[in-house]
Amino acid sequence: MSKHPIILTQGSFAHKDALLFPYEERGIQFGDGVYEVIRIYEGNPYLMEEHIDRLYRSLAAIRIQINLDKATLIQLLLDLIERNNMSVDGLIYLQVTRGSAVRTHTFPDDVEPNLFAYVESQPRHLDKLENGVHTITLPDERWANCYIKSLNLLPNVLAKQTAAENNCYESILHRDGTVTECGSSNIYLVKDGNIYTHPTTNHILNGCVRMATKRFADNLQIPFIEEAFSLDDINGADEIFLTSSMSEVLPVTQVDGNKVANGEPGLITRQLQEAYYQDAKIEGSKQISR
Ligand SMILES: Cc1ncc(COP(=O)(O)O)c(C=O)c1O
Repeated sequence: MSKHPIILTQGSFAHKDALLFPYEERGIQFGDGVYEVIRIYEGNPYLMEEHIDRLYRSLAAIRIQINLDKATLIQLLLDLIERNNMSVDGLIYLQVTRGSAVRTHTFPDDVEPNLFAYVESQPRHLDKLENGVHTITLPDERWANCYIKSLNLLPNVLAKQTAAENNCYESILHRDGTVTECGSSNIYLVKDGNIYTHPTTNHILNGCVRMATKRFADNLQIPFIEEAFSLDDINGADEIFLTSSMSEVLPVTQVDGNKVANGEPGLITRQLQEAYYQDAKIEGSKQISR
């Protein structure tokens, strides 16, 4: 039984057991929809506006229109947190699909999008934030429009599963040797004091924490160079880290079984973690539990 049983469905609130979709639902049958995962710290959402802006960009990209403006949706999500008395660390999962209709590939006429959102508790990865994580490299087998936060996550699911089966936290994805991003995070390489990361083309999701990280780097006057790096560059990296709403700024200490530099989280990664904690108004990674 969830401690947070109230969900947002279309524009109103209900108990989660009341949320029933027919089997002919475009998200279920085609993955015809988009989603967001928003971090909550002690009941407060982090980077909410960035997530909602991206949701509307994803919706526009797949030509779904919802009858809610951004401000109303944000207020509904804040109400969702409040109605669930959510005061711990957690997340908001928000999904919009094209709707429920008789199965046909083309867009159905007069279909109403299905929107739902729920909150769930989710502790921070304190141990990983402190000590770093291991990763493996895999070919990026996704489609050409990864900037859309689409429900179609099968390549990501398979990549993350392969990582897990190899005792790794993340899969570093590459297209013909060019590193794009990870199964569910963005990735960065530090060399000679510069941060390198894939530019925001169609081949990556423009992460909300990536946007924040760019801001932190600018404030810290650390060059943030939006140029892709290659698998070969990883061998000579001074630091590697990844970012996402659930992973924050996470040091990568091993790639494919090889240590990154001396195998310890690097100094620039630590500076960016500090900037993140200040921005999100949370404490650092050494804290035991909350
Ligand atoms: C493929 C992919 N890239 C990057 C990210 C990071 O995005 P954000 O920082 O908005 O959480 C995610 C998050 O889930 C993701 O799935």
